Amino acid sequence: MRPSMSRGLAAGHGRGAFRAQNNAGRGGRGGGAFRAQNNAGRGLGVRGRGRGGGRGGANGRGGMRGGNKAVIIPHRHEGVFIAKSKDDALVTKSMVPGDSVYNEKRISVQNEDGAKVEYRVWNPFRSKLGAAIQEGIDNIWIAPGARVLYLGAASGTSVSHVSDIVGPTGVVYAVEFSQRSGRDLVNMAKKRANVIPIIEDARHPSKYRMLVGMVDVIFSDVAQPDQARILALNAAYFLKTGGHFVLSIKANCIDSTLPAGKVYDSEVDRLRADLLKPAEMVTLDRFERDHACVVGSYRVPKKQKTSP
Ligand SMILES: C[S@@+](CC[C@H](N)C(=O)[O-])C[C@H]1O[C@@H](n2cnc3c(N)ncnc32)[C@H](O)[C@@H]1O
Repeated sequence: MRPSMSRGLAAGHGRGAFRAQNNAGRGGRGGGAFRAQNNAGRGLGVRGRGRGGGRGGANGRGGMRGGNKAVIIPHRHEGVFIAKSKDDALVTKSMVPGDSVYNEKRISVQNEDGAKVEYRVWNPFRSKLGAAIQEGIDNIWIAPGARVLYLGAASGTSVSHVSDIVGPTGVVYAVEFSQRSGRDLVNMAKKRANVIPIIEDARHPSKYRMLVGMVDVIFSDVAQPDQARILALNAAYFLKTGGHFVLSIKANCIDSTLPAGKVYDSEVDRLRADLLKPAEMVTLDRFERDHACVVGSYRVPKKQKTSP
């Protein structure tokens, strides 16, 4: 467990460290120390809001000619990269070169051995996980080779980046109950062998238990009032002991009468009641108002550390 930087939830409540970021006055009570850190100056530059996937390249199809001029450097989260240019951008190495999923820009670079590698720009305004990375989250636990259960996959925008990150040795079980979004998700998954689309209600994991193996990480972004319970249910079925979760919280879909910070507090308490041990939280307001992302571990065996 990362030592508490103790803004937000106070240390010393006896249930372990929890780190909240950009949360002055938030995430305050109960359950132990809360990792707090101001987001200012972290992450890559953010230029305005951008719901679009990018404006596309010269050919209007999302391509961006990088040649060997574009400089790609690894992000500290393994499997994530930064494209260095006038405006640095978060990118993932495409599993399907030549393909844009949501009209996002692509950057092609040439290796020293002459082979071409393509990266896709990850728009944090279209992805809570991308936003959390931009906001400097310490751990996402999603890395090359990881087995990920993704709840609330929508049409697969973020799932496609998770697919890039986990790569050919990992797998993403992507659950979405909307038939309409599910169609896009299924089409995206046709090109990505490591994505298994599941068109089901995440409230009923028994319906897809035959399709999903034990996973290392659950990412949940269902935006439902009972999202903590949905996460806990799925964790009980599929999350390995000592595994991790990443939960996106949309405050006003849980309680629109309370300040967002209070909602985050109560969600953190709910998680704790279900063997989910929050370790860290970042707010995502720069990208999504009144949203936060909580990361933690599940059934941590005693004495096991949850972060490096
Ligand atoms: C905020 S959107 C997810 C966006 C997506 N994670 C992304 O970054 O591209 C929430 C999604 O969760 C889906 N959803 C909500 N409740 C669900 C449930 N009980 N089971 C499965 N999917 C659900 C919605 O249909 C919607 O597509």
